[in-house]
Amino acid sequence: MFRGFWDTLQSPIIGLSPMDGVTDAAYRYTVAKTSHPSLIMTEFMNVEGLARGAVSMLHAFKYDEIERPIVAQIYGSEVDSFYKVALMVCELGFDGIDINMGCPANKVARRGSGAGLIQTPDLATTIIKTVQQAANDWAKGKTPEEADIRPKIIRAIREMRPTPSARRLLPISVKTRIGFNTVTTESWISHLLKAKPAAITLHGRTFKQLYSGEADWEEIAKAAVLCKKTDTLIVGNGDVKNIQDAQDKIEKYSVNGVLVGRATFGNPWFFDGYSPTPQECAKKAIEHCETFERIYPERLFFNMRKHLAWYLKGFDGARELRVKLMQSNNSDEVREILASFL
Ligand SMILES: Cc1cc2nc3c(=O)[nH]c(=O)nc-3n(C[C@H](O)[C@H](O)[C@H](O)COP(=O)(O)O)c2cc1C
Repeated sequence: MFRGFWDTLQSPIIGLSPMDGVTDAAYRYTVAKTSHPSLIMTEFMNVEGLARGAVSMLHAFKYDEIERPIVAQIYGSEVDSFYKVALMVCELGFDGIDINMGCPANKVARRGSGAGLIQTPDLATTIIKTVQQAANDWAKGKTPEEADIRPKIIRAIREMRPTPSARRLLPISVKTRIGFNTVTTESWISHLLKAKPAAITLHGRTFKQLYSGEADWEEIAKAAVLCKKTDTLIVGNGDVKNIQDAQDKIEKYSVNGVLVGRATFGNPWFFDGYSPTPQECAKKAIEHCETFERIYPERLFFNMRKHLAWYLKGFDGARELRVKLMQSNNSDEVREILASFL
C-alpha cells in the first residue's frame, strides 16, 4: 500500500485536526511557526462547489511551506466532483488528500456528504477509489484540462502555484466517526478498509452525538485492532486534552497517533506541550492577526475575533478585554487593547 508522507512521520503521530472556520491558512501558519505538529489538515472544502467553478472556495487551500506535511480535506457526495477536486489538490502541491466522512452538520450530512456517507457505505468506498484513481492519474501526467476542470479554476490554481508541482503520488486518507445513529465501528471500519486508505482518523462519537458526551476510545481501540491487520494506519480523535493525554491514549488504545482539534484553541504551542505566559499569549494573538491580514487582505477581520477570545482564556480581567477585542477591526486595534500585557 502507498502511504506517502505518512511513512515518514516520527512516532507517535500527533497532528492538527481539520476545523472549518478555525484551521484557515492564518491559523495553520501560526501553529506551524509556534510548535511542531506531525501533520496539518486544512478546513474541509466542498467538491461539488469547486468542481462547478467556485473560485472563491480555493482560499481554504492556501498554505505555506512551513505547514508540511499538509493535507487537503475535501467533502461531498458526487463521485465525478471528487475526481476533479482530487486532481486540483494534486496540482496545488499538497502532501495528501483526506476525505471527510464525519461532519455531522445538517447541511452536509443530510445531503449524504460527511457523516452521511456512513449510511451509504458503497458510495463511500467508490469515492475513496475514485480519489485514489485521480491521484494515480495525476502522478502519471494527467492535466486539469484533460479532466475537464473549469478554466477559471485552472487559472486560479496557476496563480496560487506559478511553479508546477512535481508529479508524485499522494496518499489518500479518511476521517470519520464510529457510526451514524448507533455505534457500528467494526462493520463500518471493515468496509472502509476494503478500499485500502493510507490512514483512517476515527472520532469516537456517532453522527447523532454531534459533540456531546465523551469520545468513546474503546471503540477507537476496536478499529485499531482491525486496521492493524492491514496496512492502513489508525489515528484516534476526540477530547485529547494535552500532549501527555495524547501519548497516554496512543499507548492505551494502540493507535498510530491522534489528531487534536479544540484543545489547540488559543494555544498554538500545544504540540510542544509548552504553557505560555499571558504576555506570550498577547504577543501571539497580535502576530496571528498580522498573519491573517497578510494572507487574507480581502477577508473580514471578524473571522479573527473568536481566536482572540481563546488567546485570552485565563487572563486577569479577561471579560473586559474580551468585550473590547470583540469589537476590534484590525491588528493595530488589537495591539492597543493588549498594550498593558506587552
Ligand atoms: C469548529 C469545528 C469545526 C470542525 N470542522 C471540521 C472539518 O472541517 N473537518 C473535519 O474532519 N472535522 C471537523 N471538525 C471535527 C474535528 O476535526 C474533531 O474531529 C473534533 O473536534 C473532535 O476532536 P477534538 O476533541 O480534539 O476537538 C470540526 C470541529 C470543530 C469544533
